[in-house]
Amino acid sequence: MFYRLINLLLLVAVWNGVAAQSIRWSAVAPGVWKGVVGRPEAYDLLKASGATPAPALKTMSEQPFPFSEDEVSGTVTDGKTNLRFPLEKDEQLFGFGLNFQTVHQRGKILQLHMDHYGGKDNGRTHAPVPFYVSSKGYGVFVNAARYINVYAGTGVRKDSKYPPVEKDRNTDKSWSSRPYSDAVELLVPAPGTEVYVFAGPTALDAVRRYNLFNGGGVLPPRWGLGFTQRVRSLFKADEVKQEADSFSVKGYPLDFIGLEPGWQSRSYPGTFEWDKSRYPDPAAFVKEMLNKQIRLNLWINPYVSKSAPFYKAITPYTGSHTVWTGEVPDFTIPKARDIFFGQLKKDQVDIGVSGYKIDEVDGYDYYLWPDVATFPSGLSGEQMRQTYGVLAMKNSIDLFKNKNQRTYGLVRASNAGANSYPYVLYNDYYNHEDFITALINSGYIGVLWTPEVRASKTAEEWLRRFQTVVFSPMAMINAWSSGTKPWSYPEVAAQVKELSLLRMRMMPYWYSEFAKYHFEGTPVFRGMSLEPGYQVNSSSAVKNNLEDNPYLEAVTREVKDQYMGGEYLLVAPLFAGQTSRKVVLPKGRWYDFYTGAFAGDGEVITVTPGLDKIPVYVKDGGVIPMMPPLLHAPRAGEKVDLEIRVYGEKAGSYRLYDDDGETFDYEKGNYDWRSIRIEKDASGKLKGSIEPPHKKAVQSYGKITWKFMTEK
Ligand code: GAL
Repeated sequence: MFYRLINLLLLVAVWNGVAAQSIRWSAVAPGVWKGVVGRPEAYDLLKASGATPAPALKTMSEQPFPFSEDEVSGTVTDGKTNLRFPLEKDEQLFGFGLNFQTVHQRGKILQLHMDHYGGKDNGRTHAPVPFYVSSKGYGVFVNAARYINVYAGTGVRKDSKYPPVEKDRNTDKSWSSRPYSDAVELLVPAPGTEVYVFAGPTALDAVRRYNLFNGGGVLPPRWGLGFTQRVRSLFKADEVKQEADSFSVKGYPLDFIGLEPGWQSRSYPGTFEWDKSRYPDPAAFVKEMLNKQIRLNLWINPYVSKSAPFYKAITPYTGSHTVWTGEVPDFTIPKARDIFFGQLKKDQVDIGVSGYKIDEVDGYDYYLWPDVATFPSGLSGEQMRQTYGVLAMKNSIDLFKNKNQRTYGLVRASNAGANSYPYVLYNDYYNHEDFITALINSGYIGVLWTPEVRASKTAEEWLRRFQTVVFSPMAMINAWSSGTKPWSYPEVAAQVKELSLLRMRMMPYWYSEFAKYHFEGTPVFRGMSLEPGYQVNSSSAVKNNLEDNPYLEAVTREVKDQYMGGEYLLVAPLFAGQTSRKVVLPKGRWYDFYTGAFAGDGEVITVTPGLDKIPVYVKDGGVIPMMPPLLHAPRAGEKVDLEIRVYGEKAGSYRLYDDDGETFDYEKGNYDWRSIRIEKDASGKLKGSIEPPHKKAVQSYGKITWKFMTEK
């Protein structure tokens, strides 16, 4: 077989006097290869997450191994593993964790290290996922729960196949301090590792294979795609009820409320039990909220206070160091999991709590356990740090699965293998532009990110932020400190209301797109480079030195402020202070989402949308299924009408997903895909048709109307 040949060839590669040890490759799924270098550690990212491939991976096409075999190497030196993958001249790289400031990663040096984001793309981030995808249409994943050094096209070996040309700085203005490099190199601080290669043919195919390999993407409950408000930290039960009521009285949608640290009797470290002065009767409170169709999400960080009811029981299974004096459960030990999550079950989930916000699992060196910490399972501080968020998420899932109820929550740390976990990343940073770049980057690495809204200096900023959070995986105001409400800025309260209702109206579209993420691995929110026909505006590129140094190309040509939302939408936000912006439309005709008017064809347009609108464009033939602007997501079994919007002039199609929206019955096949077809009749007029539901038990849609947005 081809892979065996690669194996043999790698065995004979010799570099710099050090024999390159072989990477032992084997095909593990169509277009997915596993390579083994040295002796991989017993604990890695896939072991931590327990991810297993989604069925659809098997249905993907067979593809050739994407590299020339003699250009990939893995060696073990000094107890560490060096990996080297080739880079071509005009190749661009994406991924390498949740970066906030650039989408293009070629030329970067990073250490992928779990941390809160400190304002610099240096690898310390909430999801330091060791996966990258290339514009050439392949992906690489290093399965190591370690701090991994990445040289993404920076190092130059003297035996490089395509070395940089030597230049004389005295006379040559094109001399560069960052010479051309023809490889990605990674240093894994362990005497061996697994590494996976994902074929394309397109970069999106490689991302899909990576997501499917890791279990597929998240399928949230329908209510998870509604609106969520996090209330002030020390709110009492009555204040929470009043807050929920004010949403319905004012006509703003609301599906779940987040309670921040004050629901617990102590926090930082926590007790994981209700504070009885603020919540005297938690069961009655949760029930009353559920009757209002409002679910509850509870903030926790997993560090255990001496006052926690299970403190004594869990302490044999905690690490050597504390976090804010709280003990750190070793979630790889079944006993620790049972004690910790048993408390959440008994005290909260059993009375109807719908989810959690798992905070502070990313860390900060000055309060998290240090790398010298030890854990009773034998894992090191470093391994635990890289995977703690993943372990916390993984072990929370059964709380809900056992009740056959889906959850959708928040987490501040994730990593590879958690692709299907129903959690969205967030942080304390608040730069709006960078939040959007993070949203784009999340789509390359199999995680979800919310550009949460907290407060703003001006009504303009509030509205601009709001416009982006409704085009994201979680539409949320996090008012834990500010106490803001959607209507807090009266000048824009009406626009904010319209946007939140738009979010509700688009639920059939977002829900179907998340189903595609789950079943097919296609990220809902993703960068333009994954879109066919997308080209950067070459006129804005710096020509100088591009041949020699693609790093320069990366930083001058990247577009990091527009993204795709689902199959058909292109979202191009504006930020406070802007009145107009450029939008790069990929090849093909594009139409205004709000009016259906033609917007452009494979060109760069400049738009001045006014403060009320976030520019959104629909591809020709695009179909957007919408529902009425309800204040809560439809319940299981509840039928809503469907308005199918059709954009552009050509025939099109859509696959509408449906299931009960709340349970795991879809895992037993209780779901439906209905095919929507837009065809031209004899007179050239567009006509739409939709398949009837295939299953009696799965029918969320009632009356269907068509709206041809472009044809007048
Ligand atoms: C922070 C978190 C915030 C909020 C706060 C409450 O760590 O990022 O979103 O939950 O804690 O104390």
